[in-house]
Amino acid sequence: MGVIAVIGGTGVYDPSMFENIEAKTMTTPYGDIAYTEGSYKGKKVIFLARHGAGHSIPPHLINYRANIWGLKKLGVTVIVSTTAVGSLNPDYKPGHFVLIDQFLDFTKAREGTFFDGNGKKVVHLGVGNPYSPEVRQAIEDAANELNIDIHNGGTYVCTEGPRFETPAEIKMYRQFGADTVGMTNVPEVVLAGEAEIAYATISMVTNFAAGISPTELTHQEVLDIMQELSDKFKALILRTIEKIDPNEDLPAHHRLAEYGGFKAALGADGDLL
Ligand code: HPA
Repeated sequence: MGVIAVIGGTGVYDPSMFENIEAKTMTTPYGDIAYTEGSYKGKKVIFLARHGAGHSIPPHLINYRANIWGLKKLGVTVIVSTTAVGSLNPDYKPGHFVLIDQFLDFTKAREGTFFDGNGKKVVHLGVGNPYSPEVRQAIEDAANELNIDIHNGGTYVCTEGPRFETPAEIKMYRQFGADTVGMTNVPEVVLAGEAEIAYATISMVTNFAAGISPTELTHQEVLDIMQELSDKFKALILRTIEKIDPNEDLPAHHRLAEYGGFKAALGADGDLL
């Protein structure tokens, strides 16, 4: 039985939108994770707060591998995550939702793969389609039904953080083709890809990026906008879950077919899943 997971980003910490919720922990080969098990309309849902309880983990210290490993172990086949983003695209305004379909990786010091030697196969994940088109479509359909403005497509630049960007950096990222900027989607999307989990993220534009906005961004500003959008956001997640069949076979579930699949490619570690 496939399971849907929701990874809540900045401003999205509350699993109470789901039913029958139960807080749990798991030990993975990469460390411990805390998550909530629940359900919605008869479907099992796992909720994981990316920044930990009370937003205690900064973007560059999130244990992305433990999170994705844990979700895989729980039988997750589809992840819908959320990300707060700044916008570099005049058409993507604060308050809008965006389904990014490409990323630029400007992170510097993160563990970005499960395939780090140690008896595992040498794996080169293809990232032509890092964000599942099928899951993005389900989210777009849900948004349309709810009359929520959403842009399906966009390039996200992931910075190392935790500081915000300089206006000069944003100018450069614009020239490189970025539409949105955030600090967490890489390596999360890459690890989900390696783990053969279909992944999409709902980005909420909280601000125009540095130098585009005339004022210096504060974290509180991001939190305030997320709070304002939280009802819309919850409705969108729940409607999306209704539309997703976690038992549907998707191309993302076979991304490591060339290597015999995720589990086989992990060698002896695959037995831990
Ligand atoms: N930069 C980086 N991360 C962000 C931003 C931003 O402008 N807004 C929300 N998350």
